[in-house]
Amino acid sequence: MPSTTDVPVLTIDGPGGSGKGTIAAQVASALGWHLLDSGALYRILAVVSERRQVPVEDEHGLVTLCQGLAVVFTEDGVLVDGADLSLAIRTEDAGTRASIVAAIPEVRQAILSMQRDFARPPGLVADGRDMGTVVFPEARVKIFLDASAEARANRRYNQLKSKGLSVSLRGLLEQIQERDARDRERAVAPMKPANDAVIIDSTSLSIDEVFDQVMAEVASRG
Ligand code: C5P
Repeated sequence: MPSTTDVPVLTIDGPGGSGKGTIAAQVASALGWHLLDSGALYRILAVVSERRQVPVEDEHGLVTLCQGLAVVFTEDGVLVDGADLSLAIRTEDAGTRASIVAAIPEVRQAILSMQRDFARPPGLVADGRDMGTVVFPEARVKIFLDASAEARANRRYNQLKSKGLSVSLRGLLEQIQERDARDRERAVAPMKPANDAVIIDSTSLSIDEVFDQVMAEVASRG
């Protein structure tokens, strides 16, 4: 089996709502590569720890929990220890709790090898906050996808509204800004572009335009 470093990796980092999840899935499908949604791993730990009443202060308990989780990504979601958590991990509360557990260095260490295991031939598209800086520093192509907090809050608002859910736009914006600050300012693996990342601002770009820019980077870097 080839080592991880032989496998081509494309990293897409950036804040929530920048469109990185959608773009990562589209690019992985276009290239025929595997996909890692690393945020889902932190969200799973957040939801399962809450259900099993492991407090966020219990670092040892969180790490033990993390090491025992059987996670299977399916076409449309994720199974954890056989239970379908696809919807439960997508709430704003799960995102907020995920960013709290993600600031704990021991938790990040426990999740590190899980993430690297996703690098299998013919290639991997990995999306998250620290894919290009910490998890796959040797990746051939690194993208940092950004967008203004207002644009991201608006996208999320429209998404929830189209599902018939009523939320406050101001509340969403506050949650987004709070989560951004926690992710940017934490001591370990803060969200930031790698030195060799290409920064794309999607504030006024369509998904198709971002997809084309990412594919152009892939083509230009072999
Ligand atoms: O990308 P998503 O919104 O699903 O991520 C949820 C949270 O998980 C983020 O706010 C961040 O705190 C954490 N995360 C992380 N490192 C990653 C991916 C996600 O710290 N690579």
